[in-house]
Amino acid sequence: MKSVYLEKPNVIRIEEIKEPIRKESEALIKIKSVGICGSDVGAFRGSNPLVSYPRIIGHELAGEVLEIGENKRGIKVGDKVIIDPYIYCGKCYPCSIGRTNCCEDLKVLGVHIDGGMVEMFTHPSEMLYKVPDNIPWEQIPSAEPLTIALHAIHRTNVIAGEHVVIIGAGAIGVLTALTTLAYGAVPILMDVVDARLKFAKGLGIKNTINAMDKDAIEQIKKITDGRMAEVVIEASGSNVAIRNAIDYVSYAGRIALTGWPKKETSIPTELFTKKELDVRGSRTSAGEFEEALKLMSDGIVDVNLVISKVVKLEQVPEAVKELSEHPERYLKINAIL
Ligand SMILES: NC(=O)c1ccc[n+]([C@@H]2O[C@H](COP(=O)([O-])OP(=O)(O)OC[C@H]3O[C@@H](n4cnc5c(N)ncnc54)[C@H](O)[C@@H]3O)[C@@H](O)[C@H]2O)c1
Ligand SMILES: [Zn+2]
Ligand SMILES: [Zn+2]
Repeated sequence: MKSVYLEKPNVIRIEEIKEPIRKESEALIKIKSVGICGSDVGAFRGSNPLVSYPRIIGHELAGEVLEIGENKRGIKVGDKVIIDPYIYCGKCYPCSIGRTNCCEDLKVLGVHIDGGMVEMFTHPSEMLYKVPDNIPWEQIPSAEPLTIALHAIHRTNVIAGEHVVIIGAGAIGVLTALTTLAYGAVPILMDVVDARLKFAKGLGIKNTINAMDKDAIEQIKKITDGRMAEVVIEASGSNVAIRNAIDYVSYAGRIALTGWPKKETSIPTELFTKKELDVRGSRTSAGEFEEALKLMSDGIVDVNLVISKVVKLEQVPEAVKELSEHPERYLKINAIL
């Protein structure tokens, strides 16, 4: 069968590999659609230190169940499913308290272990979610980045009426802004690239600010009636942005750090104390797939807005190169099989 094979950094191609054999606890899935994530592009570039090579990429995966044993999720042969791609140990402290997304030995598909950009895939049956019929195949993989957005929103307990500054108008930031709207809160989306902000405005995100504007803080003050944002979700991974989050947040505010910075950030922690901030990490997701699928199925969050292009699996190596060379041209590229 075909796979999207990353031999080493910058060397990616379609490679024939053997079909997998299902274990009793697993399902055999015919993959129907995949999403290309920033982390796949990072693996291609060699900029993600967690990736070992060679590696089959892909963790945003949807398909049809071909074989499955008994399972607690009620999933049957023929079901349309999405894969929860964060495999946890089930034994460590965070796993024991249900925080499986920050398992001490977390294995993410396509990063630590081979991913699912293949024709046939096996995955633990208990880590599949049944997908409502009305979501088209090419959109289903985007439920995964939507869970990342939801996780940050849950980590900061966003409630209706609050202002949420979202830093970074990439796929994650835009999905976070759209979900914030679904929660009845007021997103204020920031980026340093005007084209990204203009695009987001076209999606109905009224408040956008270029983080490079000299009066960026004044603009937030104006929108929030002097208070600043009760919540800031950092979704750029930029060190400067992480530092700025402390200035954008209100006193007694909450910050979620979703972006993965490559270097350490120098931060005036006295402002944490002075403003009595809650600053929380937000890593992948835990238990958010069902909510993401419902938001999509009910038409409340339209992930199609962030899908810039849909290609065939065979075109994924080219698409990954294109995303690496021109990240500004696309939010997400998904592929169908
Ligand atoms: N925590 C997790 O589980 C998780 C999951 C997925 C992605 N991520 C991380 O989230 C971040 C966003 O992912 P993405 O796919 O949307 O990335 P992306 O690169 O498409 O988007 C990042 C955006 O941030 C903007 N930006 C850069 N510097 C900025 C600054 N100083 N101020 C404001 N905006 C700035 C960029 O112009 C870009 O539009 C990345 O760091 C990624 O690694 C984390
Ligand atoms: Zn992803
Ligand atoms: Zn664990």
